[in-house]
Amino acid sequence: MKHHINGAELYITEKGQGAPVILLHGFPLDHRMWQAQVDALSQHYRVITPDLRGMGQSDVPAANISMEQYADDILTMMDKMGIQKAALGGFSMGGYVAFALLRKAPERFTALLFANTRPEADGPEGRKNRMNMSAALYDKGAGAARDAMLPKLLTEQTAKDQPGLVENLSAVMASMPAEGLVHASLAMAFRADSVDLLGAISVPTLVIAGEQDPIAPPDVMKKMADAIRGASFHAIPSASHLAPMEKPEAFNALLLEFLKGATA
Ligand code: MLT
Repeated sequence: MKHHINGAELYITEKGQGAPVILLHGFPLDHRMWQAQVDALSQHYRVITPDLRGMGQSDVPAANISMEQYADDILTMMDKMGIQKAALGGFSMGGYVAFALLRKAPERFTALLFANTRPEADGPEGRKNRMNMSAALYDKGAGAARDAMLPKLLTEQTAKDQPGLVENLSAVMASMPAEGLVHASLAMAFRADSVDLLGAISVPTLVIAGEQDPIAPPDVMKKMADAIRGASFHAIPSASHLAPMEKPEAFNALLLEFLKGATA
């Protein structure tokens, strides 16, 4: 349902009862990427999956936006939903928002999942790519992000075996508001580096990579996990970037086992 948050209508889905678990989606996606996790986790937890401002069914920002503003939306959402503390999971861009949340209000998060994400800021080349992506989004609409991202999200094998998944993803990405994606691209381009934050994390943390992820490669994610005290690291075999959708059984098994220990 829609919630009025920081001057905008944001679309937020929630399912289940118990300790709250907030899952933040990636680019250019929305809460629907978490469907398999919502189905599995909601038998034990209150699972909350917002559409970040400018994506999915949430209002597009009127002016440019930063990771810190996406994070403010999540904190206001928690206040409005009566959630003082939650387990927090971020996939890729959702992980960048999770880092911003840890900078702002670490005391509100009891456990962390970082999926297919990385703590480093973009370098000059990465920023340039985001500028080009923003221009392409203006010219051609959301299809520009879909065309750039689709080949990187799934392994070739999965794309061959699951044409329905490819079609579904393609439709989700093409349905995003192009302007919201421009804002997201620029927010990612100028996001802060979060490497220094890793040593300060003091809650149970799960880091999940895809063995064949070209965007957040497993060696980068392993290094990130090594910098977080007590974090556990797993690379899912035969998975690319979109591991939660590509290998939902393996992903959910890791997440459920982790949450059982972390929220006990
Ligand atoms: C995502 O999946 O959210 C994006 O690939 C993140 C990025 O482009 O850095």
